[in-house]
Amino acid sequence: MTMLQERAEQALRDVLARYTAGEAAVVNRFFAQPRSSQEYLEMVLRQIGREVQIAHWLPKAARMGEELERGAGRWDLQRFLEQCADEIKHYALLADLAEWLAERKLSAEELRKYEVNAFWDEEVDDRYLHNPHLPEAGRMVDVTRELIEGTPEPIRRGVVKISEGGGGGAFLEATRAQADEFQRRFAAIMGDIASDEMQHGPEQVAGFVKDQVRTEADLDMSVRALTAVMAQHLRVRNEIYGYPLSEQELRSFDLDGSAPS
Ligand SMILES: [Fe+2]
Ligand SMILES: [Fe+2]
Repeated sequence: MTMLQERAEQALRDVLARYTAGEAAVVNRFFAQPRSSQEYLEMVLRQIGREVQIAHWLPKAARMGEELERGAGRWDLQRFLEQCADEIKHYALLADLAEWLAERKLSAEELRKYEVNAFWDEEVDDRYLHNPHLPEAGRMVDVTRELIEGTPEPIRRGVVKISEGGGGGAFLEATRAQADEFQRRFAAIMGDIASDEMQHGPEQVAGFVKDQVRTEADLDMSVRALTAVMAQHLRVRNEIYGYPLSEQELRSFDLDGSAPS
């Protein structure tokens, strides 16, 4: 690894650390006061909206199957399917929890009310790119679309991948909430999700830098793109939890160093 790559890795990790602390603060604030079952349920349903989008990936899995050894690598297919299986598990665990909270079976409309794609994808229907129930998530799609201009595709894709799960801070913080039966069940699920999301996201930093960062310009572009995506991801997290942090508190994470008190 070159000196430039070492610097790049450190810079990217710094951005992740800053925003993942912000995501942890959102979750910490949410659990700092008593919540009704209805508030818990809406929060879980909004989180479900981010996991259920896996449904939009499955046509790609089928295509990779058709193109196996004719353009689709065996291990690329295996890794893709493994991630699909992880996301389906996240969705299924949270959907079971939502039904436990509601004390009844939920309809597809209820479970998929907040379904939203994580990033811009021209093959996905616009109602999943801009779900009116989740304006910040729609804005996230716009941020990734805006990156298309001026950011080479491998860098943009790599950065979006690294940002997955928002650095993991929200999931880890949620594992610490233990005040009632819902929180204990939620914590167990979030712990399970956290270990997957760390592999999907932050653990990809070193590989990304090794493959994609060769020049000072690559470094600048990567840091700028990751900052844009993580800043919006923090707003998405705040939206999922019903806006516990104010805009001013969110903005404190956009500046180096400081966190809200
Ligand atoms: Fe997930
Ligand atoms: Fe994931």
